[in-house]
Amino acid sequence: MSTSREHFSSKIGFILAAAGSAVGIGNLVGFPVAATKNGGGAFLIIYALFVAFICLPVMLAEMGLGRRSQHSPYKAYAELGMQTKRWRFAGWLATLTPFMIAVFYMVITVWIFGYLFQTLAGNLDQISQPDYFGKFVNDYSFIGYLVAVTLIINFILVGGVRKGIERASKILMPTLFLMLLLLVGFVLTLDNAMEGVKFYLIPDFSQIDGSVINGALAQAFFSLSLGMGILITYGSYFRRSDDIVTSGKLVALTDTSVAFVAGLMTLPAIFAIYPDTNPESLNDSSVSMIFSFFPQIFMQLSEIIGYGFASVAAAVFFLLAFVAAITSLVSIIEVPTSSLMERRNISRSKALLVMGIAITLLTLLAATSFGLLPFVSNFISYAGVDKSLFDVIVDVFYDTILPLNGLLICLFVRFRWKRENLTAELSEGNENYQTSFLHKYVNFAIGTFIPVILAVVFVNTV
Ligand code: PFF
Repeated sequence: MSTSREHFSSKIGFILAAAGSAVGIGNLVGFPVAATKNGGGAFLIIYALFVAFICLPVMLAEMGLGRRSQHSPYKAYAELGMQTKRWRFAGWLATLTPFMIAVFYMVITVWIFGYLFQTLAGNLDQISQPDYFGKFVNDYSFIGYLVAVTLIINFILVGGVRKGIERASKILMPTLFLMLLLLVGFVLTLDNAMEGVKFYLIPDFSQIDGSVINGALAQAFFSLSLGMGILITYGSYFRRSDDIVTSGKLVALTDTSVAFVAGLMTLPAIFAIYPDTNPESLNDSSVSMIFSFFPQIFMQLSEIIGYGFASVAAAVFFLLAFVAAITSLVSIIEVPTSSLMERRNISRSKALLVMGIAITLLTLLAATSFGLLPFVSNFISYAGVDKSLFDVIVDVFYDTILPLNGLLICLFVRFRWKRENLTAELSEGNENYQTSFLHKYVNFAIGTFIPVILAVVFVNTV
């Protein structure tokens, strides 16, 4: 077992880094809209139950596996799986998944950066034009924004675990909380904002059906950054004396609270500007919400508070989304980077160079598959797929492979690593774990119904 591995220097450092990974675009936009469309408070209750009873055990298993092995996913599965080929496959999948998800997330982050840039340049009136986004995605300025975002991520990651990830999280996460609270406070002062709060919170159980339940679980899983190898890798940066259980609970709580509070920003803003909004008609794609709907909302707002203030509010919003996305991207790119460092025994900067180039090139391909480079879109249609590369990645990895990775870790704990070993690992740093109800629950649930539920979700999406 490697002894030279770097570790987080403090519990708060780890919690903020893991919360940084979890809090992302999914929290700020995806969650509030999904909640409003699918029964408001009723969705919130189901979501919270999923977080506590399904996601938290999986999260603890990932972190425990990481700390026990002191490796990133590939080697973690290989070593604790006693070198069985079958489990190497799980490790390989948990390394490939973050790589591919990083690509689609990077495309969105680069767009957010572009919109932030345009807002700061005083162009809110332009980005709020209905046809702007269509032109923007096919503009060569994408390449410049992509280079800038890649440099920012590399600048953080090259510092390593303590001086890079931990330090950046300690600065960026409090900034994010502050910006979010600022925007919520501001939005709630607008006329008609309370209509939005009502639509968001009043439970309507008649909306709940199988697909809503499936969607709530997928959203919770994604939001907590599960199935992406991230928490295995971050777990491997935990010290032996650190309390994984309490940290895991706090990360889940922080992520869910941010998603909840984001709803208090998004819905009141929509209802303040469009009092006759019908929640059914809200577009549930985070992409169109961020890049079409929100700029229009800020532009409308300029009639109430003036163009200058509306531009400042828009800039804070895009900066908030950008910070949330960057801390998530850092965590996800760390997975293949640290795997490469381990597998090839190379330095962090070399691994980052390789990963940086690979992810940048694939991001460029994914972004250009909308039409910027005709040969990419043509190639995809020749291959018989009537979708952009971006959509293919989302369909395959986000919808399907994430629950599969969750299923694999449950089976791994149950049949290979064994639940007693997970218990022993989680008890280090938390003496009370072994006698707690949570311990009994985690061992029971991971060995029985959680894998069944994840298998059902996986089969459904396939
Ligand atoms: N928890 C993140 C979110 O809700 O946006 C999920 C995530 C996606 C993490 C992509 C990291 C990442 F690169």
